Amino acid sequence: MSELRFDDVRVRYGSHRRGLTAVDGASLVVPSGRIVGLVGESGSGKSTLARAAVGLAPISSGQITLDGTDVRRLPRRDRPLQMIFQDPYSSLDPRLTIGESIGEAMPAGTDRRAEAARLLELVHVDPSRAAMLPRELSGGQRQRVAMARALAGKPKVVIADEITSALDVSVQGAVLNLVRDLQQQFHLSILFISHNLAVIRYLCDIVAVMYLGRIVEVGPTLEVLADPRHPYTRELLEAAPSKTRTLLAGDLDAAGEIDVPDPHDPPSGCRYHTRCAIGPVQRQDRDVCRTTDPAAGVLSHRWAACHFADELTTR
Ligand SMILES: Nc1ncnc2c1ncn2[C@@H]1O[C@H](COP(=O)(O)OP(=O)(O)OP(=O)(O)O)[C@@H](O)[C@H]1O
Ligand SMILES: [Mg+2]
Repeated sequence: MSELRFDDVRVRYGSHRRGLTAVDGASLVVPSGRIVGLVGESGSGKSTLARAAVGLAPISSGQITLDGTDVRRLPRRDRPLQMIFQDPYSSLDPRLTIGESIGEAMPAGTDRRAEAARLLELVHVDPSRAAMLPRELSGGQRQRVAMARALAGKPKVVIADEITSALDVSVQGAVLNLVRDLQQQFHLSILFISHNLAVIRYLCDIVAVMYLGRIVEVGPTLEVLADPRHPYTRELLEAAPSKTRTLLAGDLDAAGEIDVPDPHDPPSGCRYHTRCAIGPVQRQDRDVCRTTDPAAGVLSHRWAACHFADELTTR
């Protein structure tokens, strides 16, 4: 059993006055042996939530636990929770050979050379490359090495933050298949952050949608994508592919008419009300969206933070 759980997590960057609450009361469960996708437009706080789990962003309040243990109390070495980044250079020291980088992450007493060779084989990189530096490899190969390094720590849970976004489209599929194989082989629980709904659909059992620091919808991937209950999820799905990409990729100049609130001063009530297609901008009687925050819950089943979620159901 290895469940990663976020309970009402808040992450605040910067000083009291000029600070920014990048994650503001997010709750989410990554159940044992499942892949949970996390999607949401740029700046919604996905990476911040992930980084908080591995100690790279401050948990201001709330709690993140792995099988009941606060992640801040997990051992430094043999970390049961590993993160893989969009840019493999974030996990690979450019001055170390890839064999050394992988070896560094191993528990004390391991036969590093043999284990590095085994791990490289697992991620389909020729073990004879162990003596190479990261820059001598292609982007896809580097990302495989970053995965081998993560596995060297014998994790139970892996957080993958946009790990295919920087790769050539032609190698993305192979890396996704590798994620899927490794998940099955090691019974990993995975939090998989992606801008790409097609990728999420392919890989993830469960999807969580994030907006302005909060999780607004969660549920089984196919159900959520076929029948979104939150108007924001619907916006992501219904926008023409190019507009969705724009929203998700955070290209705000190109997004044009999309009114993205200032995260320093998020809207009252439901944070999405300023953009919502079924909210108070369209329906004057819906003041509740302006005044009342839709309830937050701890999430592992079908759930949407919307006062009018029932309206969206197509069944
Ligand atoms: N170290 C930091 N200091 C201050 N603010 C930060 C820091 N890192 C992120 N932020 C801010 O926190 C908010 C959430 O950023 P975050 O990177 O978590 O979003 P994201 O959902 O991962 O976006 P993207 O899809 O672009 O990766 C943004 O407004 C961002 O500008
Ligand atoms: Mg990010």
